[in-house]
Amino acid sequence: MHSTRVTHSRRMSTVRLGLIGIGNIGRHHAEYLLDGKVPRCELRAVCAPSAAKLEPWKARGLATETDALTLMRSGLIDAVLIATPHFQHTTLGIAALEAGLHVMVEKPISAHKADAQRLLDCAERHPDRVLAGMFQLRVEPRYTRIRELLASGRLGKLQRVSWLITDWFRTDAYYSSGGWRATWRGEGGGVLLNQCLHNLDVLSWILGMPTQVRGFAQLGRWHNIEVEDQVTAYLEWPDGASGIFITSTGEAPGTNRLELAGSRGRLVLENNRITFLENETDALDWSRTATVGFSKPPVTEHELPFENHPAPHAALMENFVGAILDGTPLIAPGADGIHSVELANAMVYSSILGQTLTLPLNGAAWETELQQRIQNSRFEKTVREVAIDDFAQSFRR
Ligand SMILES: NC(=O)c1ccc[n+]([C@@H]2O[C@H](COP(=O)([O-])OP(=O)(O)OC[C@H]3O[C@@H](n4cnc5c(N)ncnc54)[C@H](O)[C@@H]3O)[C@@H](O)[C@H]2O)c1
Repeated sequence: MHSTRVTHSRRMSTVRLGLIGIGNIGRHHAEYLLDGKVPRCELRAVCAPSAAKLEPWKARGLATETDALTLMRSGLIDAVLIATPHFQHTTLGIAALEAGLHVMVEKPISAHKADAQRLLDCAERHPDRVLAGMFQLRVEPRYTRIRELLASGRLGKLQRVSWLITDWFRTDAYYSSGGWRATWRGEGGGVLLNQCLHNLDVLSWILGMPTQVRGFAQLGRWHNIEVEDQVTAYLEWPDGASGIFITSTGEAPGTNRLELAGSRGRLVLENNRITFLENETDALDWSRTATVGFSKPPVTEHELPFENHPAPHAALMENFVGAILDGTPLIAPGADGIHSVELANAMVYSSILGQTLTLPLNGAAWETELQQRIQNSRFEKTVREVAIDDFAQSFRR
């Protein structure tokens, strides 16, 4: 079924890109690509299930196709950007790799860990193709600065993490804007898998993966949806650092506050400011050597200035193109994408089981649980989605 391959016989000085899915984010990608914001990347084709939706893009000179697999085999493109609902990230991602294309996949790389592993296994079988994930927070200076500070050791031994990320407020109109949204069958999860995927990616990127997860996920707490829209989770890392991750799509105005406490100080990212309270002496050394009971090391306060990235999605696409044409290391390799999916799945699964889970998560066990929920999901797939699912069975068996 997926035997036709693109042969890269032409000498590539540019990447000819096909965009699959032109909904909210797909349209955004199309606009900056057509504006020439990503050098050496030519958006050549777009794909959407409805021919009517494609008309405006045809009028702008793009090739159009209603069937993603046909586009992949057309010879028109070298790479795809997949911006469809999550479940298809795996199926279309595998089909594209098998067709000889490079793949940039939107977050999450898959709807659940077992599917993410299938996608990564396929990428491993095709090491000549680039698989990248659209995790654009990795180019945001606020997170790169924090990551650098941690790596430099200036925070000392990490003791505690707290990420209160409740400013993902979404209305009922948002949830009804796409039938797939916030359903087990259409999306496979809620706030963790959709909005927080970015934060979970940053968390695992700057701190590595925790080994213990205990989640408390409330399903449909603030909206008439099947999946989680409010979560509190406890996390523990192998070196003993502990943390909490709290999120909601039902709270306004909400907060985005990331706090990292280490033996050399405390760093807070909030309200577009990073504040670092730096201990003059390591607090654990101070604790061991102080002669009085209620003293603390002296502290200096630093503001770490940063500016928001003007075009983070375009920056990741530029890196993807660099990886294809020049072998530039990826900022967000596809393989890293499994971590955020695993954290999202683990927090919900732990909540359903009422148990702390030790990672790595048993992806097959969560897939079985998810499949049971999918049986009762209110979302009905379209004929085309069912066809893609059938295609997917060929590699799921
Ligand atoms: N990185 C980011 O900043 C960011 C932001 C928003 C969404 N996303 C991700 O992008 C994906 C899409 O989200 P959205 O908000 O754009 O959803 P959306 O519902 O607005 O758009 C999805 C589009 O995919 C199309 N589609 C479905 N199956 C298709 C197929 N087989 N071939 C071609 N097109 C198909 C649908 O017709 C729809 O237009 C999600 O996985 C989401 O997590 C990422």
